[in-house]
Amino acid sequence: MTKYVHHEMKVAPTPEEAARQTFMSSMRMYVLLDMANGMRTVYDTEVAPKFERKNKRAPRDGTEVHRALKKDTFFKFYSSMRCNAQEMVFRSILPTVERSQDALNKKAKVLSRSKKAAGTIETDPSFVVPRSVAAIDVHRMPGNYDTEYGPDDVTQGAVYDNGISVFSMGFFGDNLDDIGSSISLFIKNKYPKFAPKRILDMGCTIGHNTVPWAKIYPKSEVHAVDVSAPAVRYGHARAQSDGVAVHFHQQNAEHTNFEDGSFDLIFSSMFLHEVPKKGIKKIFKEAHRLLKPGGLMLHMELPPNKMLGAYDSFYLDWDSYYNKEPFYKPFRDLDPEVVSENAGFAKNKFVQFIIPSVGQYGEKAVKDSVKKQTGKADDQTGRFAAGIHWYCFGAWK
Ligand SMILES: C[S@@+](CC[C@H](N)C(=O)[O-])C[C@H]1O[C@@H](n2cnc3c(N)ncnc32)[C@H](O)[C@@H]1O
Repeated sequence: MTKYVHHEMKVAPTPEEAARQTFMSSMRMYVLLDMANGMRTVYDTEVAPKFERKNKRAPRDGTEVHRALKKDTFFKFYSSMRCNAQEMVFRSILPTVERSQDALNKKAKVLSRSKKAAGTIETDPSFVVPRSVAAIDVHRMPGNYDTEYGPDDVTQGAVYDNGISVFSMGFFGDNLDDIGSSISLFIKNKYPKFAPKRILDMGCTIGHNTVPWAKIYPKSEVHAVDVSAPAVRYGHARAQSDGVAVHFHQQNAEHTNFEDGSFDLIFSSMFLHEVPKKGIKKIFKEAHRLLKPGGLMLHMELPPNKMLGAYDSFYLDWDSYYNKEPFYKPFRDLDPEVVSENAGFAKNKFVQFIIPSVGQYGEKAVKDSVKKQTGKADDQTGRFAAGIHWYCFGAWK
């Protein structure tokens, strides 16, 4: 159930709705762990040997693995179970959110004006949501991030918060903030002298991974941008309820209205894989413009295809083929180092890290990982599985 939503914007499922949500988390667990392992066995014992007999070599990349596996019955069963589970996750939370719509909109207004924290919210009625967001229901989320059902509406923020609570099966932690918490703790220990005064989170959605930065650098001024008005309104109410000051803005990360050199740290998480290639290039250039000299750009993402073997590349790119994530594979085919360089960051200033989940391994493991970086991703990197690690890359200006 939506048990990882603890703040004052929490909605109350009926016992039947809660049971349905718990069932959906378990069903996803079954598909993503048990069935995924079964598919790997079928690949290793039947599909790959057949490919090798025919071609006298192993599949070269994820595209070839996908082509070889596509006709297999197990693959079709896995894919159809996973697509259905994805849709059912959102269906399991929609009745609760829809019933709570008016109450949530009112609560968001109260929290936004409250003195619990000094965060602010800025939306723009003339804002044009880019087609890459407005034209699809990304990862089968009904209404996507941007649908608004009335003035000052926050519904899609609640759909996302409650949806990922069921979807993430506990891997995102108690406040759904494991990515932000793990990475901010790592950076603080890796660079103890780095004390960012102004931080920007790009593509923040509801700010669940923004808040940990404000907590770990309490003297910093933290800003967060997203193109979705309902997401930033909800995110602001959520952060206020946590007593954490974050300044939310409805803005396009490709061209923000902040001044040149106005941030010390620019972060994003799970953002770039939902942006078309052209947009990604603009976002890197914008990050370069916005950073002060000596500032750090850092993106948490799925590891690029060049870091993974053929099967693991295929496994992550599955979403691009079947889960309404059209930009996922094109992003993962890019070389982050080259995109950073093309945006103006020096080659020798590129960084990348693989960081253990603080929720699964604890703070000590995250701190220890500062000295144990191998630069190698594996089947536990960026994937919901016991032993999850987060990949991130970026560059110093
Ligand atoms: C997968 S969500 C990111 C989730 C969040 N950062 C996290 O840590 O889980 C992608 C977000 O990017 C936003 N987005 C897409 N294109 C954008 C753009 N050009 N500028 C700002 N936000 C954008 C979407 O509205 C959506 O909220």
